[in-house]
Amino acid sequence: MDSLSATSLFSALIFIIVFVSSVSTDQTNITAHPGQNTSLPCRSPDNKPVIVVEWIRPDLGSEYVLLYRDDQLDPENQHVMFKDRVDLQDRQMKDGNVSLVLRNVTTDDRGAYECRVVQRETNSRTETVFIINLDVLPPPGEINSEFGKEPGFLFQKYIIVFFFTVAVRWAHMESQMNRD
Ligand SMILES: *[C@@H]1O[C@H](CO)[C@@H](O)[C@H](O)[C@H]1NC(C)=O
Ligand SMILES: *[C@@H]1O[C@H](CO)[C@@H](O)[C@H](O)[C@H]1NC(C)=O
Ligand SMILES: *[C@@H]1O[C@H](CO)[C@@H](O)[C@H](O)[C@H]1NC(C)=O
Ligand SMILES: *[C@@H]1O[C@H](CO)[C@@H](O)[C@H](O)[C@H]1NC(C)=O
Repeated sequence: MDSLSATSLFSALIFIIVFVSSVSTDQTNITAHPGQNTSLPCRSPDNKPVIVVEWIRPDLGSEYVLLYRDDQLDPENQHVMFKDRVDLQDRQMKDGNVSLVLRNVTTDDRGAYECRVVQRETNSRTETVFIINLDVLPPPGEINSEFGKEPGFLFQKYIIVFFFTVAVRWAHMESQMNRD
């Protein structure tokens, strides 16, 4: 590889890195607990009419989490996992609010969701993509009972038991020596 193509490859890499990081800054992180209803926030960038809303989870393939087009929700091609569990939070999409309601969350709902909003311009359409990361955590009670199983905590316990054993042995030896 000559130095010119190495340089252009390098610039291309830099470009990709900068591009990817600029895209991923527009992320929202949401956490929920199993059984809860949660809302994944998404809002069109301006007040132009919204003609299509696509909620997808790329890791689940091409089927939709929710699809809105032709002024209604389109249940065809909806992923079975989201059947009867999702809705637009505001059906009127007031102020471009296209947030998604996801009911009865499970740990399988964890993932990166994409909200694609297509809006009508005078002579064209614009598409904006937002990424919302959903993390589903066990209920607070379970986190506490898990605490004792954490490796760091176990290690601490071993250290304490180890020094306690050494101290007891030492005291025992000391008392034996005093007796002799
Ligand atoms: C969301 O989480 C990712 C990684 O989990 C982190 O890099 C990013 O900074 C977080 N974004 C916000 C807005 O908290
Ligand atoms: C979730 O929403 C459904 C339907 O709106 C409601 O019946 C249910 O009580 C809600 N569940 C929780 C945990 O808020
Ligand atoms: C969308 O509308 C819902 C219900 O009216 C509201 O709770 C939520 O804050 C709105 N979200 C955004 C991003 O405007
Ligand atoms: C919520 O999901 C759990 C597990 O998937 C299910 O057992 C339960 O019946 C669901 N609850 C409702 C109200 O749909």
